[in-house]
Amino acid sequence: MRKTGFMAIIMLLTFLSMTLFAQDKFMYVGVKKCKTCHKMKKYGNQYEVWQKAAHSKALESLSSKESLEYAKKNGIADPAKDPKCLKCHSTMATVDKKLIDPKGKLTIEEGVSCESCHGPGSVYKSNKIMKDHKACLENGLIEPTEAVCKECHNKDNPFHKGFDFKEALKKVQHPLPEKK
Ligand code: HEC
Ligand code: HEC
Ligand code: HEC
Ligand code: HEC
Repeated sequence: MRKTGFMAIIMLLTFLSMTLFAQDKFMYVGVKKCKTCHKMKKYGNQYEVWQKAAHSKALESLSSKESLEYAKKNGIADPAKDPKCLKCHSTMATVDKKLIDPKGKLTIEEGVSCESCHGPGSVYKSNKIMKDHKACLENGLIEPTEAVCKECHNKDNPFHKGFDFKEALKKVQHPLPEKK
């Protein structure tokens, strides 16, 4: 009886240290790292789709007329520098600072980039892992589910107009070529 209890504790500790360790291994590297492969036509050029759409311009929007008007009314000096706005408008400001890879290229200017929806890419971005969905999931890639979107598409956004996941998904499509 005592032995089983002891084993259970050892197993729990091993499990805990593994999960804690695993979390720290995966860090945010920034869109420039993804671009090297994902700007290629043969992979579907997801980079260009993202660059032409709203998420890549999310930081710029914090300096728009609308933002500045809202800021003035609400005592915010500069929305593009205020954590109250940045927390959803730029990947760099949404993630834990400890998880920003010093060898990476994450910038505040890139706005809402790949890793906000796909998870920290320092490990899964290797060509070998990228080609194996299961290995991706074991190495930091997350499934971009509705819950992921709703971390930002929610009522804390002062300009929130509701969020229809299916409709929103149609607007951000950037599939791999063979799945078109
Ligand atoms: C070295 C080249 C390379 C880099 C760098 C790279 N990818 Fe990929 N990625 C690929 C390839 C190739 C595939 C397609 C694999 C296939 O055909 O199944 C892929 C697939 C994916 C998929 C689909 C994977 C799945 O199994 O669902 C996602 C999502 C993705 N990449 C995101 C990213 C993100 C985000 C980054 C940057 C953090 C990144 N990739 C960096 C080459 C790369
Ligand atoms: C890290 C925060 C964040 C996450 C996560 C996020 N978004 Fe967004 N999204 C934004 C911001 C901020 C904007 C506004 C960008 C702008 O116009 O400046 C936006 C804009 C959009 C738009 C354009 C609005 C329109 O109607 O044209 C669509 C569509 C969208 N998001 C879909 C999604 C989907 C689908 C997901 C999940 C798979 C998602 N977003 C995840 C922050 C996020
Ligand atoms: C909880 C996350 C969140 C916070 C906090 C947030 N935003 Fe946003 N913001 C979003 C999302 C998501 C969108 C895209 C909404 C859509 O179009 O569906 C958006 C859109 C916008 C837009 C574009 C509006 C439009 O429809 O054209 C502006 C401007 C904006 N936000 C400014 C701000 C400012 C200024 C602040 C700080 C006072 C702020 N946001 C705080 C998530 C957020
Ligand atoms: C707003 C969230 C969001 C952002 C930002 C985003 N993606 Fe995605 N990505 C998704 C969603 C959601 C899907 C799955 C779409 C579906 O299932 O219909 C997807 C699918 C993919 C796929 C195809 C997977 C497949 O099986 O076909 C690749 C590759 C990919 N993303 C790479 C990237 C890269 C590279 C970037 C940055 C340049 C990026 N994504 C930015 C949400 C996002």
